[in-house]
Amino acid sequence: LSFWVVIPAAGVGSRMRADRPKQYLPLNGRCLIEHTLDCFLDQPGLSGLVVCLSPDDEWWPELACACDPRITRADGGRERADSVLNGLQALTALGAGEQDWVLVHDAARPNLAQSDLQTLLATLQHDPIGGLLAVPVRDTLKLAGPDGRVSSTPDRSLFWQAYTPQMFRLGALRTALSDALAAGVAITDEASAMEWAGQAPRLVEGRADNIKVTRPEDLEFLRRR
Ligand code: CTP
Ligand code: MG
Repeated sequence: LSFWVVIPAAGVGSRMRADRPKQYLPLNGRCLIEHTLDCFLDQPGLSGLVVCLSPDDEWWPELACACDPRITRADGGRERADSVLNGLQALTALGAGEQDWVLVHDAARPNLAQSDLQTLLATLQHDPIGGLLAVPVRDTLKLAGPDGRVSSTPDRSLFWQAYTPQMFRLGALRTALSDALAAGVAITDEASAMEWAGQAPRLVEGRADNIKVTRPEDLEFLRRR
């Protein structure tokens, strides 16, 4: 199965409060984004990969992978969805077709298992819509009232945490994202754009440790393993 990859990596990592964007922080001797890219570069079927970077990113050119012929650089945008949209346009320029599969994966999610990537590809390859890696919620959920007290306990079995990669057809995803952005809808992942377009993405169960590094304790957790 052949597929393309877009890696949004144009964020500043404000919640990490580090001296550089979190994708360039070290984990086991290499920076997060190098771990993130490795999983895709090792997977047979990769047609090409676009990494979306801030135009004034000064760290990327220092990395060995900046010279990898399979990787193309695109400009990031104001929000994650703008960055992804730029990445999708770059794929078209590389020759990707409208029906080709695209996997979008956060640069700040460096612990993707090869087995999860393979499960996602195998599960969705004949799916009419596509879908995402996700994890069933484990903890009991509480709905907060305005006074900071519990207002109710919803049925946990219906809730999943949305992870990445998220896998959709290039044309359908580009249309959904650009229409949703034009309509001013808040879009935090690809699936929510597809949902807004009336599609129901498939949930593919993945490993819980494919976490997004968001706060300092997330990186401490990965470093301790
Ligand atoms: N991202 C992006 N373009 C943006 C914002 C985010 O490409 N305009 C990327 C980030 O680099 C990250 C992924 O989207 O790999 C997930 O976003 P998030 O965890 O929110 O990262 P940051 O925006 O960098 O962090 P923060 O929100 O704490 O500033
Ligand atoms: Mg952000």
